[in-house]
Amino acid sequence: MQDPLAQYPIGSPFIELQSVDSTNNYARKLINGPELPESQAGTLHGTAVFAHEQISGKGRIGKKWMSDKGTNIALSIVIRPGILELTQQFFLSAVTALAVYDLFQKHADDHVKIKWPNDLYWQDRKAGGILIESVITSSGKWDWAIIGIGININQVRFAAELHNPVSLKQITGKEYDPVSLAKELCPMLQAYLLELEQKKFDHILALYNEHLYKKGELVKFRKGNRVFEAKICEVKSNGRLVVTHSVEESFDINEIEWLFK
Ligand code: BTN
Repeated sequence: MQDPLAQYPIGSPFIELQSVDSTNNYARKLINGPELPESQAGTLHGTAVFAHEQISGKGRIGKKWMSDKGTNIALSIVIRPGILELTQQFFLSAVTALAVYDLFQKHADDHVKIKWPNDLYWQDRKAGGILIESVITSSGKWDWAIIGIGININQVRFAAELHNPVSLKQITGKEYDPVSLAKELCPMLQAYLLELEQKKFDHILALYNEHLYKKGELVKFRKGNRVFEAKICEVKSNGRLVVTHSVEESFDINEIEWLFK
């Protein structure tokens, strides 16, 4: 099969659900559904699943993703990774973060950043997150990626346990249609997938680093039971975060935890 990264439109079909456990789970069921002939496998690529309500929304590192009914974006996009190797997973995460960044920046105007690895931040507050799940064949081929995107749009009250959340409405004072915004995001992601297909890795990485939260600033981290402060330098093409304190160190996703005061 030809590489479909940029061949089929992202967001077509656009499946809108009133309520679901998790849009990522729904997308996985589509992938595992009736066997598609290889010639049609590409037709699933680009499928978007939007839900007005998620009963068991999933966050990164086994956390829950909580979102009030009818207020936010809960979207999963099915991707055939095509030319990308499993070792290049970071780039799918980076282009998704960039597309989400572009959407939010367009509406929130300023102060938008990407917090490594792929959180959407406005000032020091979290406005969204990304959870990418992969389907890998028994022979180790990266068959499918499910890109799950949650963005706070109209919600104004959040659970107390969340660290500094924010929504677009809290920033601009305006109410939005989450479905329209989700549809607006799809071609933005498509444009970055085209860049991936054209192997513009340096450009993608440069943009990602340009928007990196706290770049050049001192941040407190925890690794195991060691707490340390280090300056954020950059993120490398393998997705590792490079920091300096007395020495330069780099960390993999999930190896360290950010500590907020
Ligand atoms: C995170 O920051 O922890 C990632 C959150 C990802 C949430 C989205 S909402 C749509 C999709 N479905 C899920 O169950 N999770 C992702």
